[in-house]
Amino acid sequence: MKFTHKNNEIRLSNINEKVSIKGWVQKIRNLGGLLFFDLRDLSGIVQLQICPSSSIYKIALEVKPEYVIYVKGTVIERESKNLKMDSGEIEILVDDIEIVSKSLPLPLVISDKNSALEETRLKYRYLDLRNPNQKKYLLARSKIINSVRNTLIKNEYNEFETPILGKSTPEGARDYLVPSRIYNGSFFALPQSPQIFKQLLMISGFEKYYQIAKCFRDEDLRSDRQPEFTQIDIEASFIEEEDFYLLTEEILKNAFKEVLNIDLKVPFIRYEYDYCLEKYGSDKPDTRFELLIEDYSKIKNLNIPLFAGKDYIYGLLVDNNDILTRKKIEEYDKLVKKNHGEFLAYVKCANNEFSGGLGKYFDANSLLINNKTLFLVAGKKSDTLKSLGALRLELAKDLNLIDEKLFNFLWVTNWPLFDYDEKTNTLSPSHHPFTAPDDPLILKNDPKNARARQYDIVLNGYELGGGSIRIHDTEVQKLMFETLGLTDFEIYNRFGFFVEALKYGTPPHGGIAIGLDRLVMLMTGTNNIKDVICFPKVQSTRDLMMDSPSSVDSIQLNDLGIKVNSK
Ligand code: AMO
Repeated sequence: MKFTHKNNEIRLSNINEKVSIKGWVQKIRNLGGLLFFDLRDLSGIVQLQICPSSSIYKIALEVKPEYVIYVKGTVIERESKNLKMDSGEIEILVDDIEIVSKSLPLPLVISDKNSALEETRLKYRYLDLRNPNQKKYLLARSKIINSVRNTLIKNEYNEFETPILGKSTPEGARDYLVPSRIYNGSFFALPQSPQIFKQLLMISGFEKYYQIAKCFRDEDLRSDRQPEFTQIDIEASFIEEEDFYLLTEEILKNAFKEVLNIDLKVPFIRYEYDYCLEKYGSDKPDTRFELLIEDYSKIKNLNIPLFAGKDYIYGLLVDNNDILTRKKIEEYDKLVKKNHGEFLAYVKCANNEFSGGLGKYFDANSLLINNKTLFLVAGKKSDTLKSLGALRLELAKDLNLIDEKLFNFLWVTNWPLFDYDEKTNTLSPSHHPFTAPDDPLILKNDPKNARARQYDIVLNGYELGGGSIRIHDTEVQKLMFETLGLTDFEIYNRFGFFVEALKYGTPPHGGIAIGLDRLVMLMTGTNNIKDVICFPKVQSTRDLMMDSPSSVDSIQLNDLGIKVNSK
């Protein structure tokens, strides 16, 4: 069948033309015998009209919603125009119709509004995706991928695929394991990222690599996290941090221009990690609103018992607002504690009168905060700041401080090389163990204070991507593993092949990975990562459509040498 038009491209200029089109019947109306169908294809909708006098009228009466039909007809001007529809000034007077495929009544309604429950939508995801509103996310995703590829190709990057069946990679989440049939008791691990492979490709001398790469991490899901997700994964040799800032900014600038027609301002701002923590209480600051954390250690002078012996006092100052009721502030207190803050104290000043839990300790000489409310948290530095970081975001939502139209990019630089766990007195990589230290001597002599050649890119408070210059020196890599407390056996067992590879002339190299799903999510203005993935998993890490994970039969388990303990 040869089709002449896409449904949504037929206009008044096509009047009297014979057209041949196809699609799904979205809506049927019978007005005193005269039939009207909305016919939907990927491009959109066009209205069909079928007269009772037509020779195909009997066939048309058999058509039900979501049947697939082929149609021939003539473009005519509509009597009552629908200007909300792109093709709303015309309709097709049908003179031939073929039912190509029938449909059962659908378990959900295809419309622009997502009225069905998420459970139903994901169980019937292929139908959910008939909804133009849902389609728009995935079509944008495709365009974004095209744009990213074009920029990388223009910059002479080569695309390579790396294995899915591999060995545990170093990102530090739980692995998805695949049991081996040939080697019972041994397992492949699915890659948490192509990290090791892309570094090996640099050792092979490819110099510029990229991949739209599938990654797998067995983590608790959130609205911006899926167990199976995609990275725009990049690695290059003989480069410095600045090269990656430039390349990433070019990729994003082009994608925003080509897909959203938005001109991003580059270069993006750069903040050091410490500054982000001090001012935003977060390593992924949302810079779309100004509310900054301030040091209030001067309050120690007031000898408030609550603050006695506390090392640090930090606070957030906001304009008074009726929304800040006692009940709301109790909720904030819970939020602060959930984020490891010791407590939340507050003082409100209206008409130069102080009130709130701390009100009695203040007068106009102690603090000039008229018409403002001050929230304070005291205790250990990092916990205090991070709990205020969480409160900052909540206040921004409640007080409507965020300009949703903004796309605020930001580089976070100068990261600590390690996270330190006081309880176990151990260090773990703040990103992964192949990140180069800023100064190998500090790594050797004072690892807790070592800094990394790491850069993260943040958009509107989301960690969009991260990368680093890597260690290319065998001795430094060895020192890194030792500092992490890995034994020779552990190093050999987990990364032996990689440590060996480093010995054969490794070029200086580095890279970055941008979370594609998060990028599409933010560019398309949804806050749900599931929207931008064709067949996503739900919160409980299930695929509702395939009903997986699912049990397998005993023959398969026997082959794999696996016995399942029922819980
Ligand atoms: P990292 O672990 O920071 O770095 O991941 C890079 C980016 O991938 C995205 N991302 C996710 N997106 C959705 N669901 C998830 N579960 C998920 N986990 C991560 C984020 C994140 O910023 N190999 C290094 C990169 C490098 O050093 O080159 C890596 O994977 O947007």
